Parts: sequence; structure tokens; C-alpha cells
Amino acid sequence: MTSTSVLVTGGAGFIGSNLLHLLAEVRPDWHLVNFDALTYAGNLENLGAVEGRPNYTFVKGDVAKPEDVERAFDACPAGSRILVMHLAAESHVDRSIQSGQPFVMTNVVGTQVMLDVARARGAERFLHVSTDEVYGSLGAEGFFLETTPYDPSSPYSASKAGSDLLVRAAHRTHGFDVVVTNCSNNYGPYQFPEKLIPLMIANAHEDKALPVYGDGMNVRDWLYVRDHCEALLVALEKGRSGETYNIGGNNEYPNIAIVKLILETLGKPESLIQYVKDRPGHDRRYAIDATKIKNELGWEPRFRFEQALPLTIEWYLANSEWLGRVRSGAYRDYYATQYGG
Ligand code: NAD
Ligand code: DAU
Repeated sequence: MTSTSVLVTGGAGFIGSNLLHLLAEVRPDWHLVNFDALTYAGNLENLGAVEGRPNYTFVKGDVAKPEDVERAFDACPAGSRILVMHLAAESHVDRSIQSGQPFVMTNVVGTQVMLDVARARGAERFLHVSTDEVYGSLGAEGFFLETTPYDPSSPYSASKAGSDLLVRAAHRTHGFDVVVTNCSNNYGPYQFPEKLIPLMIANAHEDKALPVYGDGMNVRDWLYVRDHCEALLVALEKGRSGETYNIGGNNEYPNIAIVKLILETLGKPESLIQYVKDRPGHDRRYAIDATKIKNELGWEPRFRFEQALPLTIEWYLANSEWLGRVRSGAYRDYYATQYGG
């Protein structure tokens, strides 16, 4: 029987590392290739026991460089069928406001390079992991459907929108087998503490100010990262070629409510909250209609916020050493120690 290799890009990041943990657990026969540039957001310490597996390979490289991408495909055992799960991206909206160019290079150029090499190397399927931010902002009513027109607000979401369209074009033009997923806000272990939930947990724990943008009433639809990873595996294995699937938690909260929940759980005072200048172009509300993936592929979230937010807070408290190394920048030494480079 032909063996299976999965090439995960961005596997040292937040969702990618959670995905590799899941794949190692539920598809133990698959060869896992983690291809990652190790930017500030990439941390091999997120991989834990996955790194010790015989059928796991790490390849350091940039998705926008064809020669690096070729090396990643070379790491897939000869003769195996190759599935690509493309997560590598510049992912933080605030950074894209400071400087958009890295977002275009990685998210747009990098996706085209990945598509070209994957097609040339005969990859069986290309799963492109994207965001609900491509749809823009909602008012108080309504939900994002797969048919909602793209209307991105930030350089980050515009670059992800561009990447989604390139993936669709590879299907229409070349008949390449692709699936696109657009997911809402994730939370859980190993998230870089620049994002709302880990930042607020870390600051509250250290009695530092919690910066809330604008009036704190912007709404996000929160999904536990394990649920997202399970949805990605379902989309990889059962999704229809050329289709888009929205993934969401049906779990809307205004930011200020989350910040207050975190403070309450940690027994910290609300006086730590500091309202600050709003994010430019700040989308007011995101909400996903995930009916299609439920009806077609049978996926639904398993974790409720009331259960998984406390779990997440506990995880960051229990992993204060990990958090400290990320906050201090010490995690960046790990690659040199582990891989000698
Ligand atoms: P992250 O920032 O935590 O991780 C990104 C990873 O990509 C890092 O390991 C980084 O080193 C790597 N990377 C960056 N540039 C690279 C390059 N040029 N070449 C190779 N690797 C590179 O991001 P995340 O939150 O885990 O998001 C993963 C994917 O999921 C992204 O495509 C993002 O758009 C999408 N997404 C994220 C969320 C969310 O809430 N975090 C929601 C929906 C979709
Ligand atoms: O919706 C999916 C997207 O979710 C992903 O595509 C992105 O990669 C991911 O970063 C996330 O984007 P957001 O901009 O929604 O996430 P962030 O954690 O940066 O912010 C969440 C909300 O909290 C947003 O309304 C801005 C607000 N915020 C954020 C930070 C970092 C604050 O009020 N204060 C903060 O310090």
C-alpha cells in the first residue's frame, strides 16, 4: 500500500504545531514534514514529543523561495502520496498595519510558490488554511457564508484574500486538487502572546495593564484550536476538490467580555483594564456560518468556550516557563541547540 506524507507549512506556529500534535496522535502512520522559516512566530518548542518521532522531519525554509520548497518536498519519502496543508503565513493584523510587505511576500508570493512546486511534484491535494477576515466586517446582524464577497480591511486580510484567489485559480486553470478553509479566531495552547487571549492572560498574571482597543465592543467568533485542527483534517480527507469551507465556533463574544472573564478567572482586578487607541480599520464583528462543513463533512466544534477558555488559562499558567521564554525571546536559541544551525 502507498504510504502517505503530509507536508505542513508553518508547523512551528500556533495552529500548525497543534495540528502536528493531532496528526501524530490520530494518523500515526503518516510521515509528517514540518516546513517552517522560524520567524518570530515559529517556535520548535511547541512540538514537544512530535520532534522525537521517527516519521517526522523538520525542514527550515521560506515558502516564497522555490529552492527551499523543493527541499521540503525532497523530505517526503520517495513513492509516498503527498498531501499539503498550507498554514505558513504572517498572521498578525497589527504587524501588517506597521508594515505590509512581509505579508505580501509570505502570504501571496509564498502561496503561489507552494502551489507551483506542489503541482510540479504531483501533490495529491493542497489544503489552504485561511481566515474569515477576508470577508471584511459585519454589522450587528448576519453571518459569513462561503459565497460572501471578499472585502478585506487590513494588509493581512488583503494578503490572505489574494492567496485564497490564487489557490482557487490553480484549481480552475490547472485542475489542481485544492480545498480552501476560512476559519474564525482560534485560541488555545502555544498561541504567540501578541494575540488577544494569550496577551491578556500573560499581562494579567504579571499585574500589567490590559490594552483594550477602542470601546472593547468588537466581536469575534472564538474556536478552540483543537476543533479547528480536527476540521482541517476532515477537510483534507473528505472535502470536495475546488470547494471552500467556513469553520467557526458559533461562539461570539465582545473583546471586553473576554478580558473581564480572564481577570475574573485569575482573581485580578478590572482596574488593570486600559482602554487604548483603536486599531485602524478595525473590523467590528466576525461571525461564521459553518453549516456547509457540518452538512457535507459532518464536522462540528466539540469544545465550548465556558470549558475551553479556563483550560487555556490553566495551560498558560502551567507552562509559565514556555511563556517566559517566548516573552523574553529565549525560545529563539532552541533551533541552534537542537539542530546546530
Ligand atoms: P502563527 O503566526 O502562529 O504561525 C505562523 C507560522 O508560519 C510560524 O511558525 C512562522 O515561522 C511560519 N512562517 C511565517 N512566514 C513563513 C515563511 N515565509 N516561510 C515558512 N514559514 C513561515 O500563525 P497561526 O495563528 O498559527 O496561523 C496559521 C494559519 O492559519 C495562517 O495561515 C493564518 O492566516 C490562519 N488562520 C489563523 C487563525 C487564528 O486565529 N490564529 C484563524 C484563521 C486562520
Ligand atoms: O479571525 C481570524 C483571525 O483572527 C486570524 O486570521 C488572525 O491570524 C488572528 O490574528 C486573528 O485576528 P484578530 O485581529 O481578530 O486577532 P487579535 O488577537 O489580534 O485581536 C482580537 C480582537 O482583540 C480584535 O478585535 C482586536 C482586539 N485586541 C487585540 C489585541 C492584541 C485588543 O483589544 N487589544 C490587544 O492588545
